[in-house]
This record gives sequence, C-alpha cells and structure tokens, in this order.
Amino acid sequence: MTTALASAIDVANETSLPAPVVLAIATQKGGVGKTTTTVNLGARLAMAGYNVLIVDLEPQAQAGTALGITLGGHEDEAANEAELQRSLGYILQMALQKFPRPHLKQAMFDRTDDVLGDFEGHGQLCVLASEEASMSAAQNAFVTKPYKEIVTLRHLLLQEARGFHFVLIDTPPAVSHLNAVALAAADYVVTICIPEYQSIKGALVLSAATHAIATNTGGVCEPQLLGALLNRSNPESAWTNQDVDIRNAMIGDGINAEPGRGLFPFVTDVRRDVRISESYIHGRPAVTRFPNHSCGKQYTGVVEEILDRIQMPRQKWTIADPIVVEENADA
Ligand SMILES: Nc1ncnc2c1ncn2[C@@H]1O[C@H](COP(=O)(O)OP(=O)(O)OP(=O)(O)O)[C@@H](O)[C@H]1O
Ligand SMILES: [Mg+2]
Repeated sequence: MTTALASAIDVANETSLPAPVVLAIATQKGGVGKTTTTVNLGARLAMAGYNVLIVDLEPQAQAGTALGITLGGHEDEAANEAELQRSLGYILQMALQKFPRPHLKQAMFDRTDDVLGDFEGHGQLCVLASEEASMSAAQNAFVTKPYKEIVTLRHLLLQEARGFHFVLIDTPPAVSHLNAVALAAADYVVTICIPEYQSIKGALVLSAATHAIATNTGGVCEPQLLGALLNRSNPESAWTNQDVDIRNAMIGDGINAEPGRGLFPFVTDVRRDVRISESYIHGRPAVTRFPNHSCGKQYTGVVEEILDRIQMPRQKWTIADPIVVEENADA
C-alpha cells in the first residue's frame, strides 16, 4: 500500500468523505467478458481522474491478476499467510462473524503507479483482490447465514471505501450467493452480452435477479440495471442473423425478451480484439495500453455513456506519452 493511501486511512475523518458509487458487472453466463469489462472500465474511469476501487468477488481471482496482483504466490509460508489476510474472501468471512479483520484500505493494493503511470491527471486505482479457497469459504459462509447478511459487502464499502468515486465489482458467473452479495452492494448493475444467443438469457436472468434484490432485502438495497454492453462484437460489415437478433433482443424486441424487459443497451459496443485478451498477461488493462486505438476508444465511449446515465461529469484526460499503434492490426 502506498503512503498516499495509508495517509487516506484516517478512520476518524472517514465519515466526512463521500460514499462511492458502486457498480456490479454481472451476468449469469460465463466467459462473456465480465472481468475484462470491469478492469477496463475501472482503469478508464481512473484515467479520467476518478478514484476507483476494483473489487474482485470471484474465486477465480482474475480481476486482480488482470491488474498485476495474484495473492499467495510466495515460497515463504508466512508471507503467503499475511497476504491471504488481505484477500476479500478472508475479510468477508471475518466480517460475517464479527471477528477482527483488516480495514478495507489496509487490505487493498494500490495499482495507480504501475497501471496509470503514463497518464496525467489520473485518479487512484486500487484493487481488493480475491483468492480461491478463501472466497469459496466466504460463499459457503453466506449460505449458512440469514439472508439479511447479504448486505455485508455494501456496508463495508459504504463505511470503509469512502473517498473512492467508484467501486466496480467483478462477479462470478451463475446466480449464486456471491452474486446476490454483489447485486446487494451495487447502486447500478451493468450486464454483458456477446453475439451468441445464450448470452441474452444470462443477461435477462441477471436483470430479474437485480429486480428481486429490492424485494428480498425489504427495500434496504435497490440496485438498478444501468445497461447492457455488447462485448466481442463483430464489425457491421460481417453481421450475421445472430448479430441482428442479439441487438434486437437487447432492446427488448427479440429472442426470449418480453415487451418492457429490455436490457438498455449502450450505444457503444466493444469489438473482438486480441489486444484486449492479451493484455491480461501484462497485468494492465487494454485501455491503458492502447488508449488511442479503437479498443481504447470503445471503452472511453462506454464510460461516457455510463457517466451520462448516472449524471456524473465526464472528465478530461491527457496522455503523457502517447502510444502509436497500427490502426489496421485488428484481430
Ligand atoms: N472484446 C474482447 N476481445 C477479445 N477477447 C475478449 C474480449 N472480451 C473478453 N475477451 C476474452 O474472452 C475471455 C473471457 O473474458 P472474461 O474472463 O473477461 O469473461 P468473464 O465473463 O469474466 O468469465 P468468467 O465467467 O469465467 O468469469 C478472456 O480470454 C478474455 O481475454
Ligand atoms: Mg470473470
């Protein structure tokens, strides 16, 4: 943790800081780009000057890895043990049992310098990382607790993530207890579709689950479906019937979508691009590596639409060291 972040933990003064806007990125369908979208949108918001916390609520722990953090990889057992106490799964278990645990700001990793070092005017980018065993145990702990404990993460974020403008939560596929924890924590939910029929059903199930949270928590949590992003889209010149059907279904006029049950698609799609997938192993999201390329611009477009929908100002950003890329190198 950097000195800047450590100095931000003045718990006595914390309540004077604004509470974050919490977005969950979720769908029932696996492998559609939830993690990729979470880290790219989060990084892009931080490039625009916002302070952003990425919360990895996934036993697969891929959002942390995509930002260069993998917990528990040391040869030294004591170091592993200490690091695992910073995992979100450990913190959730301790919070559920009301046991002592690290403050969220002591557990998070500050990735600002490593990920955003090339940019001027950026905000802070931090991650609460996950680890498989502790997150799976946390999921089991939620199953055994009364349903009202589903708000545990929301309470933690509203109390201990103050000062961040945005929290983005990466979620597991399927509609599980961990997903309910994420939806209950969220002010807004962004769902993801890809140009395959099955992805629409996953997004509609998620939409219904989002609406159910308000009822199930007696109105304590009221997440709203903010919109659906079409990820891994094809260029218009290569559209098939399936591409067209998916777009119609997203606006509530197609397969399995009942009238009035649209997914509020964003105008901007994110195209299929190998730059996006290969950025994972570099520990830096594509939007920070290729901000001027079409993939970077697409994430910028989605972020602007999100800011407009939640009525927050778009902020300016500049690139300290512009990256020149070949525009014709699309995958
Ligand atoms: N726009 C894109 N272009 C190319 N590859 C992409 C794009 N979006 C995601 N991918 C790739 O698709 C795969 C699945 O993405 P990702 O892991 O983000 O999905 P997920 O929904 O989080 O999966 P899971 O359900 O397992 O958590 C990854 O290999 C990722 O790099
Ligand atoms: Mg994922």
